[in-house]
Amino acid sequence: MTSKSSFDSNCMTLTRFVLAEQRKVPTATGDLSQLLNSIQTAVKAVSSAVRKAGIANMYGIAGNTNVQGEEVKKLDVLSNELFINMLTSSFTTSLLVSEENKNAIEVETEKRGKYVVCFDPLDGSSNIDCLVSVGSIFGIYKKLDEVAGSDISNALQPGKNLVAAGYALYGSATMIVLSIGHGVNGFTYDPAIGEFILTERNMRVPEKGNIYSINEGNESTWGSTIKEYIRSKKYPNNGKPYSARYVGSMVADVHRTIKYGGIFLYPSTKSNPNGKLRLLYECIPMAYIIKEAGGLASNGKIDILDIIPESIHQRSPIFLGSKEDVQEVLQFVKSKAES
Ligand code: AHM
Ligand code: MG
Repeated sequence: MTSKSSFDSNCMTLTRFVLAEQRKVPTATGDLSQLLNSIQTAVKAVSSAVRKAGIANMYGIAGNTNVQGEEVKKLDVLSNELFINMLTSSFTTSLLVSEENKNAIEVETEKRGKYVVCFDPLDGSSNIDCLVSVGSIFGIYKKLDEVAGSDISNALQPGKNLVAAGYALYGSATMIVLSIGHGVNGFTYDPAIGEFILTERNMRVPEKGNIYSINEGNESTWGSTIKEYIRSKKYPNNGKPYSARYVGSMVADVHRTIKYGGIFLYPSTKSNPNGKLRLLYECIPMAYIIKEAGGLASNGKIDILDIIPESIHQRSPIFLGSKEDVQEVLQFVKSKAES
């Protein structure tokens, strides 16, 4: 009798997956694998911090003081330090753009490599302290041939130049969703072995969903087109109304959109004509993932991946999700512009 073992001794880890992808490209040097490994380590450490691992050692019996009498480092600051330290010590990057740093970070000359990484180390700041899901987002470019690695133009490339992009979601489980340009794959963290395991192969956004996701508290500041579009989801001429879901953490809202379909919107508002979300490390990497998964991402006029960035912290309105849903909102925008 053969007994079925409950332990898979041949599972596909993220590291193994990346190595297998690398082997498909005969000219690959292994640098991208090394870079992705460093991101993986940063994500493991951020995940552990978000889940407060080791907190018992940090707090006194009263539960409110650090035993060393030091201030406990804020999670977003800690996450940023982890990403910067892991990326610079991977010897594969020359320029880093982080949401947390006003200026781009030039990697020291002797540690420089051919990649440029734009990242948001811990996105969803309003959700960090109340234990609601947060995430990390990253986009990876190759440095341009014609300029020095530290030149800012390396980070101002359109999203269609991306080599890879992904996000980590610190939700009920920790997951890394990654695209190296041939579809999207999802890896769930298994704390038992400290590895990310391929659990969602070739993720696809449903062609059409029944969920809209927008900060509805801003309605009075939207333009009339978005007001009309959202109203049409709530009061449809036929069929059922859409459900509203809004976590307020982009990673969680986008992940749900990939899994269940529908649309996520952060449009321009009266006070923010370019919306709120940042192009380089929020909109572009997420647009790349959504498009690789068969969905669409637009700023209302053009594909997010066609925008040529002008500054590292610039913002953009964004509409992303299921193909048919995004096409529908773009149709609203177009017919309004024509009338
Ligand atoms: P942050 O970078 O300060 O965390 O802001 C980005 C977040 C996104 O995760 C989320 O989609 C959006 O802000 C929510 O904004 P709002 O609170 O205006 O709805
Ligand atoms: Mg952010």
